[in-house]
Amino acid sequence: MKISICGKGGTGKSTLVAALANEFLRRGSEVIIIDSDESNSGLYRMLGLDRRPSPLMELAGGRKNVRQALRSEPAENTQEKKETSVLAQDRIRVEDLPEEYVCGREGLRLVVVGKIHQALEGCACPIGVLSRGFLKRLALAEGKIAIVDMEAGIEHFGRGIETSIDCVVAVVEPSLESVNLAEKVNSLANASGALFAGAVINKTTSRTMAGKIETALRDCGIKLLGIMRFHPEFLDTALEGQPLPSGVAEDEIRTIADAIVSIPPLTESRIHRTEESVMTLEEKITDLKARMPAHSVNPSMVQELEELEERLKTAREQSKRLLADKEV
Ligand SMILES: Nc1ncnc2c1ncn2[C@@H]1O[C@H](COP(=O)(O)OP(=O)(O)O)[C@@H](O)[C@H]1O
Ligand SMILES: [Mg+2]
Repeated sequence: MKISICGKGGTGKSTLVAALANEFLRRGSEVIIIDSDESNSGLYRMLGLDRRPSPLMELAGGRKNVRQALRSEPAENTQEKKETSVLAQDRIRVEDLPEEYVCGREGLRLVVVGKIHQALEGCACPIGVLSRGFLKRLALAEGKIAIVDMEAGIEHFGRGIETSIDCVVAVVEPSLESVNLAEKVNSLANASGALFAGAVINKTTSRTMAGKIETALRDCGIKLLGIMRFHPEFLDTALEGQPLPSGVAEDEIRTIADAIVSIPPLTESRIHRTEESVMTLEEKITDLKARMPAHSVNPSMVQELEELEERLKTAREQSKRLLADKEV
């Protein structure tokens, strides 16, 4: 399962990423964290690691070579060639990445994509290309969980990064701006074919405050996955560069993790949605045929029937394609 955590800068994305990582590790899953936010200098510390791995952007040979690295073997040097070509594989396993690009501890791995906001080089953002290429090809064994700590904001949506994500989660802090951003994430994720799971409210200091945000989210049609209240311990440890403290907000994080794992993976839910639309269309066609008089059929009915049959054909083809993809 690939989960992406989005939201405004400072809302608590990295904190939630680290908290979920600990929770999934506790449940016995292996966890891979993909850091896609260059402002995350402290994420490795929150995760209890002693260093940050070199960014994949370096492995790809820098921003100018990203596209080539994902396609072929750009380097002349044989060792380098071998390392870089990892990115060109159809399926990338974290185990296959050279050591300096991965840090970890028991059950946990951290991969950093690279710097995002550097001077534009006149083409589609290379980090987008790299993130998308890497996430799409990242092969996860059964039960493994990848959590992407997304770049703050929403600029990455529409670059296709989220199409290989099973579930997009927005972190919302008590501010109108943050709720508005979650609403945008919701519509952008849905428009780009990703599954928007819902929002986590973070840093609330009272029930009333949580209730207000909950109402605001409900009004936007956003599902609430859980609430993480304001815990001074998080702030203290972050300030000291310490790992996320254990024993803080455990119940809250458990609820959020439960809500996330209960979301069907993207393919499953897409298959489900297509199958549902096949069934609905079949019912509509049966119903229309039953209403059609034996003689002197109304031309608009014939047209409607033709349209429904066309849509049914497309839905059946899509369902077949999704099932075939799933087999792979
Ligand atoms: N629930 C919380 N209670 C108290 N402090 C929090 C909470 N969540 C996050 N913080 C603090 O807020 C700051 C920003 O959090 P961070 O996770 O780095 O945000 P982001 O990754 O979205 O930029 C950090 O100092 C962090 O310790
Ligand atoms: Mg962060």
